[in-house]
Amino acid sequence: MSKANLIDGKAIAASVRSEISARAARLLAETGKRPGLAVVLAGEDPASQVYVRNKGLAAEACGFHSVKHTLPADTSEASLLALVEQLNEDDTIHGILVQLPLPGHIDETKVLRLIRPEKDVDGFHPVNVGLLATGARDTALVPCTPAGSLVLLKRTLQTPLAGLNAVVIGRSNIVGKPMAALLLAESCTVTIAHSRTKDLPEVVRSADIVVAAVGRPEMVRGSWIKPGATVIDVGINRVPNPAKGEGATKLVGDVAFAEAAEVAGAITPVPGGVGPMTIAMLMANTLTAARRQLG
Ligand code: GUN
Repeated sequence: MSKANLIDGKAIAASVRSEISARAARLLAETGKRPGLAVVLAGEDPASQVYVRNKGLAAEACGFHSVKHTLPADTSEASLLALVEQLNEDDTIHGILVQLPLPGHIDETKVLRLIRPEKDVDGFHPVNVGLLATGARDTALVPCTPAGSLVLLKRTLQTPLAGLNAVVIGRSNIVGKPMAALLLAESCTVTIAHSRTKDLPEVVRSADIVVAAVGRPEMVRGSWIKPGATVIDVGINRVPNPAKGEGATKLVGDVAFAEAAEVAGAITPVPGGVGPMTIAMLMANTLTAARRQLG
């Protein structure tokens, strides 16, 4: 029997999305315009195909104008850059998302830096990264996964996060670094742990808040968790599931869920935790971007 409260990301994301739908309807009534989201997929990575499809469906469900551009895996960097430029100039598009990872021959940095910061609904452009880092969160577009994780934390704790010890495991530009910046802006005492951290279990034991974003299945053990801590599991790892027969797979997080749920105060499941929030925050960023551009 697990003791932890389950953080229902699916339910919280549904309530965020219905609020966004209502705000998009008001925008349409006021301006005659819909928020427009363009999602670009280069290549045929199966996981990316699923993510991109879900992003498009969510945009349509929110009443947005939604377009998808699919390019072959061997598309040239120049044609991807030309597409981004075209979307930058398109007045019906307020948000541009280029799904990562890109095929190896394309310079990711070059592509992400070409997206106009005001249309950068992923929050990956250095202008948005800088705005977040300097505390101008209200003007930045904030990366969706950490933004969604923060919403889950706030709704779960329902008290100010100030002064809590937060340990973020993982230092990626997509999750770890922006998550740390958001928690710092909430006045947490923030530690970023990574593959070279010494005695990771001991570091994690100091945390009131644990955010795991390393991409290693069930790496964080229950014995590492401080009793009562809040655990946000960003990992989505597909692993073999022999119990369901040969070749069967299942999704697990970066946290050993059953063990951690015995000790934590609250924990996100995988799937159904952070994942749905990422898409909800993409809708929120697109609406914000549209409001600013329609001014
Ligand atoms: N690939 C994995 N996560 C993300 C994300 O948040 N945005 C984009 N563009 N690609 C991703």
